[in-house]
Amino acid sequence: MPGVFRHPLSGLPRVAEEALEAGLGGVILFGVLPQEAKDPMGRGAYAEDGVVQRAIRLLKREFPELLVVADTCLCEYTDHGHCGVVKEGPLGFYVDNDATLDLLARTALSQAQAGADVVAPSAMMDGQVKAIREALDRGGFAHVPILSYAVKYASAFYGPFREAAQSAPGFGDRSGYQMDPRAGLWDALREAALDDLEGADMLMVKPALPYLDVLSALKGRFAKPLFAYQVSGEYAMLKAAALKGWLDERRAVLESLFALRRAGAQGILTYYALEAARWLKEA
Ligand code: PBG
Ligand code: ZN
Repeated sequence: MPGVFRHPLSGLPRVAEEALEAGLGGVILFGVLPQEAKDPMGRGAYAEDGVVQRAIRLLKREFPELLVVADTCLCEYTDHGHCGVVKEGPLGFYVDNDATLDLLARTALSQAQAGADVVAPSAMMDGQVKAIREALDRGGFAHVPILSYAVKYASAFYGPFREAAQSAPGFGDRSGYQMDPRAGLWDALREAALDDLEGADMLMVKPALPYLDVLSALKGRFAKPLFAYQVSGEYAMLKAAALKGWLDERRAVLESLFALRRAGAQGILTYYALEAARWLKEA
C-alpha cells in the first residue's frame, strides 16, 4: 500500500532516525520471510539469527534510546501460516494450543536476549502470557514487560498485513483462536482479565475503530496501560479514500486517533504514526 514498506535490515537506521525525530513512543517489529524459509514449526521466529532478532540487535546498538517492541507470534514463520503448531486429529487439522506455548515462550525469550525492550504476544493462544512471563523470568529478563494483544478479533481488517507478510493461513482461518467479532463485551472483559492475571503489563485491543465499545469497557478496569492497534485494513480505508480525494486525510486520520484516545487508549499502534506525529506537532 502507498506509504507502507517492508524494510530490509539496511533500511532500519533511517526508519529509526525518523521515529526518534518525530518523537514516537517506539517501534514494533514484524518479520517477513520468503516462503522457502518457513517451516511447520516456525523456527524463524525463535532463531538466534532470525530477522527480527538481528533487527533488534542492530537498532539497540545504534539507537539505544529508541524503544523496540517485538511482535511475538509464529504466523509469519510457519509454512501453513497459522499462529501455532498444526496437528491432525480425528476431525481434521487443528492448532495445538499447549504445544504452541513453548514455542511462543522461546520466541519471546530470544527477542529479549536480542535486546527487545517489550515483547508483544499476538497469537491468541490460551496461557501464552503466563508461559512467556515464566520463560522471561527464568531467563533473567524479569524486567522485560509484556504488551498483550489481549482482546484480538478474527478480523477482515488484517487483510493487507497478511498480504504484506504473506502470512495468511494456507487452510482454514484463525477463528479457532482469535475472537468472534460478534461476541459480546463479556468475552472481551474475560480475555483481558485472564491476561491481567497471567501477568501482562499492558493490554491491547485490536482492531481499533470497529471495537471502540471494547476499549471503553476496558478503560480504567485494570491498573495497567490500555492500548489500541489501528490495523492495516483501517489504514487501507483511510488511505484509499484519501487518494480518491474523498476524505481530508489529515483531519480524518487525526479524528480516528482522537476517537481511540477518547474511548480509553493510552497508547496507539498505527501505520500512520510518523505522519500523525508530524501533524500533531504542526497543530
Ligand atoms: C500476527 C499479527 C497479525 C497482525 C499483527 N500481528 C496478523 C494476524 O493476526 O493475522 C495484524 C496487523 C495488521 O493487520 O495491521 N498474529
Ligand atoms: Zn500470528
